[in-house]
Amino acid sequence: MEYINLKIKKINESLIEGYIKIRAKTDGESSGMTWTKGERPVGNIEEQKKALTGILNNQGGIIFLAYVDDQAVGYMSLSGETAERVRHVRTITVAVSKKYWRKGIGLKLMKKGITWAKANNIHKIHLWVWQNNTGAKLLYERLGFEIEGIQKDAGFINNKYVDRTMMGKILK
Ligand SMILES: CC(C)(COP(=O)(O)OP(=O)(O)OC[C@H]1O[C@@H](n2cnc3c(N)ncnc32)[C@H](O)[C@@H]1OP(=O)(O)O)[C@@H](O)C(=O)NCCC(=O)NCCS
Repeated sequence: MEYINLKIKKINESLIEGYIKIRAKTDGESSGMTWTKGERPVGNIEEQKKALTGILNNQGGIIFLAYVDDQAVGYMSLSGETAERVRHVRTITVAVSKKYWRKGIGLKLMKKGITWAKANNIHKIHLWVWQNNTGAKLLYERLGFEIEGIQKDAGFINNKYVDRTMMGKILK
C-alpha cells in the first residue's frame, strides 16, 4: 500500500469545521450514506459547535477524524442515547472521501472507535448499511460485525427501494 501521512484525531472545538466540511463532502460523494448531497450543509459553524456541545464534553458520543497532510478526509462517529436501558449501545457512522478509498482509512477509523468503545465500557456497537453497499459490509464483517436483520425497503436510492442490513458487534 502506498504511504500516506495519515493521522486519526479525536474531535475538539478547533476541528469542528473540518468535521462539518468532510461530512458534507462525503454525503455527496456516494449513495452509501443516508444523507444526499446538500442535506447536511456546512452552514453556520458557530451553530454547529453548539449542536455538538455534548460530544465535545464527552457526553453520549465521540467523533474521530482522519487527516491526510492536515486535510480532513474521513470521519467515524459513535452516538447513543442516554436512557438507562439503552445507554450500553452506540451507533456507528463512517465515511471516507472517495479519492482516499481502499487505503485503509476506514479500517483505521473503525478500529479507533472500537478501542474507544471498549475503553468506555460500551457493551454493543451497531449500524445500518444499505443492502447493496458491499464494500462497507465487507469492512464491518472483517471487524467481526454480524448481520442481525434486514429491513425491507428502508431506503429509496436512485429511484429504487433498497433494503437495509442491521449489523452489530458485542464488545467483550
Ligand atoms: C465504506 C468506507 C467507509 C470504507 O472506507 P475505506 O477507507 O475505503 O476502507 P478501507 O480501505 O479501510 O478498507 C478496509 C477493508 O474493507 C473492505 N472494503 C472496503 N471497501 C471495499 C470495497 N469497495 N470493495 C470491497 N471491499 C472493500 C476490504 O476488505 C478492505 O481491505 P483491502 O482494501 O485490504 O481489501 C468507504 O467506502 C466510504 O466512505 N463509502 C461511502 C460512505 C459509506 O458507504 N459509508 C458506510 C455507511 S454504512
